[in-house]
Amino acid sequence: MRRARIAGVGHYVPERVVTNHDLEQLMDTSDAWIRERTGIRERRFTAPGVGSSGLGVKAAEAALANAGWQPSDVEFIIFATLSPDLYFPGNGVLLQAALGIERIGALDVRNQCTGFIYGLSTADAFIRVGMYDRVLLVGGEVHSTGLRMNTEGRDTAVLFGDGAGAVCVEVTDGAADGCLLQHRLHADGRFARELTIPSPGALSDPWLTKEMIEEGLTAPHMNGREVFKHAVTRFPEVIHEVLAAEGRSAADVDLFIPHQANERITEGVRKRLGVEPEKVYSNIARYGNTTAASIPIALSEAVAAGTVKRGSLVCLAAFGSGFTWAASLLRY
Ligand SMILES: CC(C)(COP(=O)(O)OP(=O)(O)OC[C@H]1O[C@@H](n2cnc3c(N)ncnc32)[C@H](O)[C@@H]1OP(=O)(O)O)[C@@H](O)C(=O)NCCC(=O)NCCS
Repeated sequence: MRRARIAGVGHYVPERVVTNHDLEQLMDTSDAWIRERTGIRERRFTAPGVGSSGLGVKAAEAALANAGWQPSDVEFIIFATLSPDLYFPGNGVLLQAALGIERIGALDVRNQCTGFIYGLSTADAFIRVGMYDRVLLVGGEVHSTGLRMNTEGRDTAVLFGDGAGAVCVEVTDGAADGCLLQHRLHADGRFARELTIPSPGALSDPWLTKEMIEEGLTAPHMNGREVFKHAVTRFPEVIHEVLAAEGRSAADVDLFIPHQANERITEGVRKRLGVEPEKVYSNIARYGNTTAASIPIALSEAVAAGTVKRGSLVCLAAFGSGFTWAASLLRY
């Protein structure tokens, strides 16, 4: 039976470290406020001129090397991001050109924090039906250039960071190797405006004005409490869905990798699942929220550290803008 497995993982984060103390110089905030509410201590900001496709290229190169693939082995590209280099075309084609792979298809996924899981399920489906044997999936974000780095924008400016992660997904017979087991994808568009970057957008004529920039409409707008409330419910719900579909319980899972939104959300989810802290991966202290990149960065780190080994049962889960929420269960 055709199944898909993760053949290799990789990630890249920019070198520039921005601490909470650095942000104190730019806005009325404090290291204590940020740490207590989110668990974040520092994040990475990209270098001038390097966008999310550029970070994605480095993550993709690391994943290709880890899988033992050449760029020419890739048959299809999926790029998940909410912060593309250009309004259009998407990052997928930019990545394709940078890797020097001509003609293969490139798909962009616009699902914010759940983008990586939506992308992984898409790669799995393409492989299972026999359309492709090898898919490169990248999640990459550059938030730093779009945040309002002042007191007005502080509620979101302190949360987000830049980075990219990638996985190589390949066909397997599912017998001896690990494989992707289950995915569940959800959305509730009634909450679309609770976490959004409103402008630029084709609803307004013209798409972007000086006033929109001055009003801060090109930066994230978030109803933090509403996001928090839904996240702590939806994360465990969708995790239980993928576990039940595979006849598993939380105790069977070797590592949970939740989207890194907030340490308090992760801790709330962990308690509801009733698992010990070592079973829930967290790197939010070092990177903040990197949206579509957070899960592949975490997975890549966990593989490099030996926390995830071949045969480990791993559960990925995410909640975010849309609202969207999703989970995947896989045997690495
Ligand atoms: C954002 C979040 C940390 C805010 O925590 P909170 O306890 O809800 O805080 P509130 O929004 O009620 O704000 C409390 C106060 O802190 C202030 N504040 C907001 N951001 C601040 C910052 N960076 N530094 C200092 N003070 C800040 C607010 O202005 C408010 O002040 P007020 O009481 O004088 O009005 C929290 O709501 C959260 O984690 N939400 C989920 C966000 C998330 O994960 N988003 C991404 C999802 S993918």
